[in-house]
Amino acid sequence: TQATILTRSFCDKMDNKILLDSAKRLAARTAVDQWVTEDTKVLGIGSGSTVVFVVERVAERVWKDGALSELICVPSSFQSRQLILDHNLPLGDLDRNYKVDLYIDGADEVDSSMVLIKGGGGCLMQEKIVASCAKTVIIVADYTKQSLRLGEQWCKGIPIEVSSMAYVPVKHKIEELYGGEAQLRTALNKAGPIVTDNGNFLMDWRFVAQREYDWDEVNRTISMIPGVLETGLFVNMAAKCYFGMANGTVKVQN
Ligand code: 5RP
Repeated sequence: TQATILTRSFCDKMDNKILLDSAKRLAARTAVDQWVTEDTKVLGIGSGSTVVFVVERVAERVWKDGALSELICVPSSFQSRQLILDHNLPLGDLDRNYKVDLYIDGADEVDSSMVLIKGGGGCLMQEKIVASCAKTVIIVADYTKQSLRLGEQWCKGIPIEVSSMAYVPVKHKIEELYGGEAQLRTALNKAGPIVTDNGNFLMDWRFVAQREYDWDEVNRTISMIPGVLETGLFVNMAAKCYFGMANGTVKVQN
């Protein structure tokens, strides 16, 4: 019956969420245990659902194990600031802590050359700023984020933060330069545009998945378009990515 089909599809979704969450948790805990040491004084905290497990593990180390007594956490979004506060971890900022020892964040897609797509949660600009201040950037993700080439997994495109007055010209410039389609990100009910923590709009550029792009060049060129504030392409930033796999193991990619 219709009710049985709906119940089964709901249960499948729940099973999938439980599997993904355990992969995220495993990746996050492994990365924290390997990278966050007593030498980590300033830790940059990324954004998104995987980072929740990062902060949980850091808080366990601080509050249960009595470790990391000198740690300061620098957030990359309103969400990560709240997470730090909720776990009662010491909150810092780039004004006082502009040298970040380690930055841990999630990603929407990671290719075999460690080019990342980020910004699914809309926090790409502050994330890139904090990541750029870090000695080491570590990515934590579930197995669905791993790709040989960008576009295999992330059909929603590359997020780009733009000034609200510039989204139409920026859209046309990107499409003329590189093809595909750049769309304004709107609320689910289409009531209006999503506004970032910085008060700007977001575009999602669905590039041509079959085309060969030089992502470093694409990132530089799009960043130079007036009105573009940041792209969700992170090139040459991440040192390692920890993927939590479906079989309960962790795969580390350099
Ligand atoms: C937010 C981000 C997130 O790190 C990215 O979207 C991954 O999120 P999640 O861990 O929820 O899959 O870039 O701007």
